[in-house]
Amino acid sequence: MLYLDNSATTAVHPEVVKVMQDVLEKHFGNPSSLHKKGIEAEKILQISKNFIAQTLQVKPQEIVFTSGGTEGDNLAVKGIALQYQNRGRHIITSQVEHPAVRESCRQLENLGFEITYLAVDKIGCVDPELVKSSLRKDTILVSIMQVNNEVGAIQPIQAIGELIKKHTKIFFHVDGVQGYAKIPVQLKLWGVDLFTISAHKIHGPKGVGALYIRDGIKLFPQITGGGQEGGIRSGTENVPGIAGFAKACQIAREIFVTKSKEMSKLRKACIVLLEESIPAIVVNGPKDEEVSPYIINLSIPGLRGEVLVHALEKENIFVSTGSACSSKKDITSPVLDAMGLAQDIKLGSIRVSFSYETTLEDIEVFVNKLTQVVEQLLRKN
Ligand SMILES: Cc1ncc(COP(=O)(O)O)c(C=O)c1O
Repeated sequence: MLYLDNSATTAVHPEVVKVMQDVLEKHFGNPSSLHKKGIEAEKILQISKNFIAQTLQVKPQEIVFTSGGTEGDNLAVKGIALQYQNRGRHIITSQVEHPAVRESCRQLENLGFEITYLAVDKIGCVDPELVKSSLRKDTILVSIMQVNNEVGAIQPIQAIGELIKKHTKIFFHVDGVQGYAKIPVQLKLWGVDLFTISAHKIHGPKGVGALYIRDGIKLFPQITGGGQEGGIRSGTENVPGIAGFAKACQIAREIFVTKSKEMSKLRKACIVLLEESIPAIVVNGPKDEEVSPYIINLSIPGLRGEVLVHALEKENIFVSTGSACSSKKDITSPVLDAMGLAQDIKLGSIRVSFSYETTLEDIEVFVNKLTQVVEQLLRKN
């Protein structure tokens, strides 16, 4: 089995499973309970929060646990909009954001907010100059992702942050789900106010994530109740999931140091091999600069993405069409639409995404199988 769909989700690391099992079995108390079992669970939350905060070089009280990237994005975008709407009702985002941000913005539009969806260039990057010229007196939020989940484009977060720093009343949210623990993150240097992360993209469990909220920022809570997580996100915390998340962060951080250069080389090698073996192949998005080492989006003109995905599946190789969230709908990806790609390139797009466990041998197997599959399918056409 060759799993190359790591941007959709990753396999849970065995050490993460161990930690979670231990917490499930032994530390089942409710962190809000006053007795020993509760205090024990609360301690696990605190230790996990301290660790995750440390990986982001922020304070533990600036971290709120969520149910994942989708909730983090919703909390950030709608939380700022609803809390600060008296200052203004204009938000800037891009046309290539994850649906968690895009649909939050659409909802806000229905509530009377004005949203500017910035265009991108043909490799999926936002131009900071466009952000600058879109800023208005009533702008309260700019939300731009760090790494695009479909094509891997790394957005110019530092340059955008520099612009926003000059406007003290505008908040800057970054969806870091595909960047955290994979490429460098420097929230303070970049002037990021809110940063979303998710555990299952880094070999942690599904249904857990965190949102960094810079000290002093208030968010309009979307889940109200018992007042957990400082009242910003009520609900009994997912203690085993959070402990697993912290473990995954620890493992990712250790590996990140040794693996990041290697991963870039691996991605480049994969593209070279693909271009040698399948001359018609088109790489969508940035080729080798300003791109996540973990993602390649490619098309073979004349072949549909889902046909390729299923043909590879028969060979026990797992990749995806576009992003996981839109792969079951027969519509072209808004990300590829925004990049202005031709219809056959959009319909033919597949995303191959690596993990730090992917090796050069895996890449060779993938390229060989894809070459065979493409030859067979083109012969049939
Ligand atoms: C960039 C980005 N943001 C947000 C999400 C949503 O994260 P989650 O699956 O944890 O809800 C994803 C998941 O694919 C993503 O890639």
